[in-house]
Amino acid sequence: MHSPFKTIIEPFRIKSVEPIRFTTREERALLLAAAGYNPFLLRAEHVLIDLLTDSGTGAMSKHQWAGMMRGDESYAGADSFYRFEAAVRDITRLKHIIPTHQGRAAERILFSTVLKPGDIVPNNTHFDTTRANIEACGATALDLPVPEGRQPALRAPFKGNIDLAALERCLAENPGRVPLVMITVTNNSGGGQPVSLANLRGACSLCQKHGVPLFLDCCRFAENTWFIKQREPEFADQTPLEIARAMFACADGATMSAKKDGMANIGGFLALNSDAWAERCKHNLILTEGFPTYGGLAGYDLEALAVGFYEALDEDYLRYRIRSIEYLGDLLTKNSVPIVQPTGGHAVYIDAKAMLPHLPANEFPAWALSCTLYLEGGVRGVEIGSVMFGRQPDGTEKPAAMELVRLAFPRRVYTQSHVDYLGEIILHVNGLRDRIHGLRFTHAPDVLRHFSARFEPVGGTLVH
Ligand code: F0G
Repeated sequence: MHSPFKTIIEPFRIKSVEPIRFTTREERALLLAAAGYNPFLLRAEHVLIDLLTDSGTGAMSKHQWAGMMRGDESYAGADSFYRFEAAVRDITRLKHIIPTHQGRAAERILFSTVLKPGDIVPNNTHFDTTRANIEACGATALDLPVPEGRQPALRAPFKGNIDLAALERCLAENPGRVPLVMITVTNNSGGGQPVSLANLRGACSLCQKHGVPLFLDCCRFAENTWFIKQREPEFADQTPLEIARAMFACADGATMSAKKDGMANIGGFLALNSDAWAERCKHNLILTEGFPTYGGLAGYDLEALAVGFYEALDEDYLRYRIRSIEYLGDLLTKNSVPIVQPTGGHAVYIDAKAMLPHLPANEFPAWALSCTLYLEGGVRGVEIGSVMFGRQPDGTEKPAAMELVRLAFPRRVYTQSHVDYLGEIILHVNGLRDRIHGLRFTHAPDVLRHFSARFEPVGGTLVH
């Protein structure tokens, strides 16, 4: 029930707490240098507010913990699998439900089963692991966001949409080379922006016309339903569950990292209608993930997910979730910090190109900003820019479309005072922006380099 009062509160109380610890700026300067200026290489205990990811970092409910106690750990045919399968099928109405230990496992299994070198997979914007798994098959991961999706300051309701005209061209010009089309809801690499049902339906009919299956990368499907409910008048009176079903009705399959809107700490799935693909995918799954009724998960994980998918679709939860992100976005916007507008579903994305115009792409402005947020305030975010996406499959460098720092909110973890504190730190860093130096690589692996690369500040210090 929506309260008649205007303050939107956390729709839960807290039963179990985790202490977080302050460090000094001097300590953080040493820790950051020792981590090669790569926030991924910091120890979590040295981070005060950890917004590296919303993936697997959420707090579970008492109902999920209670579910875990009845986890059936049978190798084959466990009750827990059937509860998991029933929940996923109820929401997606897809035929074959294959559990995996996380999203990228579903991606690897799907792509390595159906792609061959030279194929093309269009998407609104591929996530880094999705792109890497496609490229590992010798295929091309093609991003086709609507043009407004690449203009951070522009406000539009569905900046996550796929460019339907570009998709139609791609399908028409590459017959036989596009085994599937993907749409990521919400569009994580593009600012956590939602995809409208009109756009999903448009993509669905194009795919049907060309006989190509459409898959959703549905990590944040529940957050996407809330934006549809708010912004697409036709769906204002529908429940998030009904909207989710309408979204999945456009799709022939889905990959999911259930570490997001599954509200659990681990898990994922591949769901699809094709009997032939499902059979081949299950064989592939057995090679590395396990038997098809557990897919690399414990029975108790499947239980936590079976409950979590529905909790993610709860209206009070979604109202609070989306508002808590918007709250930080409003605070930053009011104080002239450039962010991707409007705020997305799971994160605020700071536009580092706009904040640090003195830093060229090859000095990685968003990476430098993410390091500065840690140095000054113990906050950990993640770069989505030229470190993550600059290296091309042929080994050349090309600046990423945007230089963003994503501050992703774990689900049900931080409270409003954490966010107020965070706002203060970001405004402090914004005040130092002219003094922030860029970075250069001292070590850069070829694949998914952001996870393990090391850097040094171009000017000797990060903030001068
Ligand atoms: N697709 C999207 C849109 C994602 O955001 C992620 C993960 C994946 C696929 C892969 O799932 O991690 O379970 O293997 N995103 C996390 C993030 C890591 O921080 O955005 P995974």
